[in-house]
Amino acid sequence: MTSSNDIRATFLDYFRRNGHEVVESSPLVPRNDPTLMFANSGMVQFKNVFTGQEKRPYSRATTAQKSVRAGGKHNDLDNVGYTARHHTFFEMLGNFSFGDYFKEQAIGHAWELLTRDFGLPKDRLLVTVYSEDEEAPVYWKKIAGLPDSRIIRIPTSDNFWRMGDTGPCGPCSEIFFDHGDKIFGGPPGSADQDGDRFIEIWNLVFMQYEEGPPGTRVPLPRPSIDTGMGLERFAAILQGKHDNYDTDTLRALILASSEATGQDPDGQWKTSHRVVADHLRAGTFLIADGVMPSNEGRGYVLRRILRRAMRHAHMMGAREPLLHRLVPALTRQMGAAYPEILRAEALVVETLRLEETRFRSLLERGLGLLADESGRLGDGGTLPGDVAFKLYDTYGFPLDLTQDALRGEGKTVDTAGFEAAMAEQRKRARAAWAGSGEAATETLWFDLKEKLGASEFLGYSTETAEGEILAIVANGQVVDSAVAGTEVSVILNQTPFYAESGGQVGDTGLISAGEGCRINVRDTQKKLGDLFVHVGVVAHGEAKLGLAVQAEVDHARRSTIRAHHSATHLLHEALRRRLGTHVAQKGSLNAPDRLRFDVSQPVPMTDADLAWVEAEVNSRIRENAEVVTRLMTPDAAVQIGAMALFGEKYGEEVRVVSMGHDPSATERFGVYSLELCGGTHAKRTGDIGLFRIVAEGAVAAGIRRVEAVTGEAALKVIEERDRQLNEASSVLKARPAELAERIANLLEERKKLEREVSDLRKKLATGGAAAEVETIAGLRVALRELGEMPPKDLKGVVEAILQSGTADVVGVVATAEGKASVFVGIGEAAKGKTDAVTLVRAASAAIGGKGGGGKPDMAQAGGPDAAKAAEALAAIRAALGG
Ligand code: ALA
Repeated sequence: MTSSNDIRATFLDYFRRNGHEVVESSPLVPRNDPTLMFANSGMVQFKNVFTGQEKRPYSRATTAQKSVRAGGKHNDLDNVGYTARHHTFFEMLGNFSFGDYFKEQAIGHAWELLTRDFGLPKDRLLVTVYSEDEEAPVYWKKIAGLPDSRIIRIPTSDNFWRMGDTGPCGPCSEIFFDHGDKIFGGPPGSADQDGDRFIEIWNLVFMQYEEGPPGTRVPLPRPSIDTGMGLERFAAILQGKHDNYDTDTLRALILASSEATGQDPDGQWKTSHRVVADHLRAGTFLIADGVMPSNEGRGYVLRRILRRAMRHAHMMGAREPLLHRLVPALTRQMGAAYPEILRAEALVVETLRLEETRFRSLLERGLGLLADESGRLGDGGTLPGDVAFKLYDTYGFPLDLTQDALRGEGKTVDTAGFEAAMAEQRKRARAAWAGSGEAATETLWFDLKEKLGASEFLGYSTETAEGEILAIVANGQVVDSAVAGTEVSVILNQTPFYAESGGQVGDTGLISAGEGCRINVRDTQKKLGDLFVHVGVVAHGEAKLGLAVQAEVDHARRSTIRAHHSATHLLHEALRRRLGTHVAQKGSLNAPDRLRFDVSQPVPMTDADLAWVEAEVNSRIRENAEVVTRLMTPDAAVQIGAMALFGEKYGEEVRVVSMGHDPSATERFGVYSLELCGGTHAKRTGDIGLFRIVAEGAVAAGIRRVEAVTGEAALKVIEERDRQLNEASSVLKARPAELAERIANLLEERKKLEREVSDLRKKLATGGAAAEVETIAGLRVALRELGEMPPKDLKGVVEAILQSGTADVVGVVATAEGKASVFVGIGEAAKGKTDAVTLVRAASAAIGGKGGGGKPDMAQAGGPDAAKAAEALAAIRAALGG
């Protein structure tokens, strides 16, 4: 048997040998097309290459593309389980030429691969062509030798392929396999074409035009090729099956479902097993590509798929969550071809378990209500819309789940009534909100939120995405367009821009549509919880409602924000380890250039604390552990030891971010840091690079703030330190390692020198004392002007002269730093006859001082008039009566 994995490999290898680049499947969430919910064919990722807008280094490519057709324009959800060939998730094999080869070679490759490499019998194949295409039939005859009877001309849009209302398009040619006359059905184009005998296996699209607004169609710069082969249906043919669900991959999942539920895979629960198998694939691949179950947008499509499967699991008697247990069976089948599902396995398992656990408690009660209500209906009855709405609103039953449940009984739902009940509920919500006292200007955002729903945030997995402008606000008004120079707030249907929350600043970047419109975004804010508002200015062209735009986050800035945010988590844990578990987050800022983290901590952190914490964080960075994000309920998160912020509001699901290893922390599954956090983070702790604390201080009683930098910013701080150190080294002519000792020596030396200078001054001042003593009123008086000398040295000089016994009264004056100081001392012989305080006061007046003071035998004064030193001495002389 040729396995699905072999078929995929053979296909890709054939085209690789024929000069095609093997390109990876693009993610299921299209980054380059805002109008598309999920990638639904191989050409989606090449859309702009066909039109020439985007250049790639190759002109031929081949892919195995993950595709989902549920929820959007192509919605196969309702049929899954009941038919042989409907899937929500499938793989499309394709080959592409971007202006390289065209019809002849495309047909040649397809024919060769099918009949030679895969060995399909030629007489079982037939093709369709678009009736206006005169070339394709010629090549089919020439290359494949097909007779006219097996080249069927189809005049309808079935053979003119369009990606959507606009974009590249062209006639196509489809290859069919004839399962033989044992099976009912007619060839394409016949009345019985919907039978199962003739199965389309490969669509070759001859991309020739680009469709613009209605009625305009221009030729592509160069004709191109886009082909698509559904792997599941092709595998059915090669594996001799008639039903895609009997092929290896899906059968393995059905058997896993059968084993887990104990129900016969082919008995009465056949449909349920198929639903479970198909939806398990869609769910796993969507979660691995970043979609999470939610009540909006893509997340709601995922939720609808999962809950539909969960009802079937429940019907089969599964009393415990089932889906997550089947994930290993899927990764065994498809993990080698799509390693992303292996990498995300833990996240997928946990998300599925969480979703099913939560839904289970509602499911049973909801089904009870449904059974009661449906029992009241007659055969073929219609369930009232308000009942379907109650099931939706109270029990979490997506509308299609209710419809699926009633399908078996031949009953339907009044969908118009359901919509009306939904609209009524919105009205009530609005009335309740209007009464809540919000500012009037906020009404605008409420209206927008109601009209547009939540913005879809893609920024956990990408920094660039296409989006559509859904609203523009300028000067407090909702407008349809805004020209260059206008300050605007713009809302897109989906965005990679992170809106400020949880301490992490909003992203900046560019929203643009080629040269036609450029909006410089300087901030992103959230309104009403989940409306993302891009704030900026139209820098060029015009912003218009409905415009498809490219939204690009400033990558360098976001990277440094991420590093700071992840470092904050490590810092938090390190602080708790050093200071104690009383340390709790009280506030934080994660900006591109720094982080600020406020914690409850009664006393200042010591230098040793900070050094320890810094070293600890850096060693966790060097550990380079993966940063893992999981989703869980807030309760579950707190139970496993995640740090939650008291008073923060969390939704029904929270993101839990873990980093690093700590085998002793068994209560937290051996991880180092575990926090509830909606921010964006580094992929690995090593991406933080380096961590450096730059400040620690108080912000309020009992709250300390740590400021730190990471990566480039930390390096800059260190470089600056280095530079300062080198400068000091070169001034001191010492190596940095010797600086401290050198400075200590210098200080010591300086003290010594100061002492010496002081002694020398004394000596100098007392020298020649005898010659300069004058006699006033019978006392020997020595009055000296000492010139520049620090005030603290004067006392020593006065004492020295008195001790020498040459004078009974000594008065000195000196200047330093522009001020004058006076010191007066009285010897034994003069005591009682005069006193130092009186004399110093006289001197003080002369130098503009305030009087001075001291004891009768020793007093001092100072004053601002350094130039009046001589007058000060004269004043003392006068006061003595001289
Ligand atoms: N894009 C083409 C399809 O989806 C091949 O059928």
